[in-house]
Amino acid sequence: ATSLKTAYQQDFLIGAALSASIINQADPQLVTLIARDFNSITPENCMKWGEIRNADGSWKWADADAFVAFGEQHNLHMVGHTLVWHSQIPTPYLKIKTVITSAKQPCRKKCRSTSPPLAGRYKGKLHAWDVVNEAVDDNLKMRESHWYKILGEDFIYQAFNLAHEVDPKAHLLYNDYNIERTGKREATIEMIKRLQKRGMPIHGLGIQGHMGIDTPPIAEVEKSIIEFAKLGLRVHFTELDIDVLPSVWELPVAEISTRFEYKPERDPYTKGLPQEMQDKLARRYEDLFKLFLKHADKIDRVTLWGVSDDASWLNDFPIRGRTNYPLLFDRQHEPKPAYFRVLDLK
Ligand code: XIL
Repeated sequence: ATSLKTAYQQDFLIGAALSASIINQADPQLVTLIARDFNSITPENCMKWGEIRNADGSWKWADADAFVAFGEQHNLHMVGHTLVWHSQIPTPYLKIKTVITSAKQPCRKKCRSTSPPLAGRYKGKLHAWDVVNEAVDDNLKMRESHWYKILGEDFIYQAFNLAHEVDPKAHLLYNDYNIERTGKREATIEMIKRLQKRGMPIHGLGIQGHMGIDTPPIAEVEKSIIEFAKLGLRVHFTELDIDVLPSVWELPVAEISTRFEYKPERDPYTKGLPQEMQDKLARRYEDLFKLFLKHADKIDRVTLWGVSDDASWLNDFPIRGRTNYPLLFDRQHEPKPAYFRVLDLK
């Protein structure tokens, strides 16, 4: 095959998250590459509430409109990201938490005042929406977001119903990280079952898929695909990337203050990725795509969280200023060995 999207056209969509700067700069080489390899796009940031609303409540649609125009121009499947999330929201929304902690009505109103205009503006143009993002916390309980504190789990039910009302044809997803691992997977399944029992309109489960070079094991990822499909939902990998740098998450809680500090030993590949790691990354991608192919009947889409390593958020998360190598294209926008492994599977 000559490109990822043609290689996998019988299996699932191949997507990429695009930043506003990729769209606005429109570097011809990068645009050609995107149109050649990918048939689905997700906005990396420009549809988040904090990006589309000014502090005074007015709207700024320019980047989101440009994203949709780009998708239409290149005939791409488009995913909206994201309608209700606890993060990247404008500050006035955070203030409501302290002002009206027990007042449900204003909170619903806030939800209604942003989600429907956002979903409605692109009705019929976006094919899917990440309706609710990251509602389950690392402690496996519901995340104590301001939405949850005020409305309880009902905020999810309301968000999906609202989205369905506004754009009845859109494919509606619940999206979260680490749900391809045991623990958060089971907690998420229980939550979805409770909501499905109430008749909530949901069509897909978005596994973000921010993975490590060794974890989770492929068998864990497989279990999640199978279990989520059993809920009657389509499975999407929505933000796939593979972190090759030393993880800080397993550091003892006592060292929490040093966890997110930059230290040279946490940034070992500033001069390039050694061959051995390059091969390991390629094998990891190959193993994952083999698994995706095995379950292609359950999977609608595999989206990478970015196009090339230079622009990946993992250079700055969870520690700022590192040199990471999580994607299929390198800093010069050339395909990496991992790209060819994925391509050659077909
Ligand atoms: C990230 C973006 O990639 C960064 O540019 C931004 O600074 C923070 O958010 N889960 C999600 C995505 O659902 O929206 C996040 O994107 C990555 C984690």
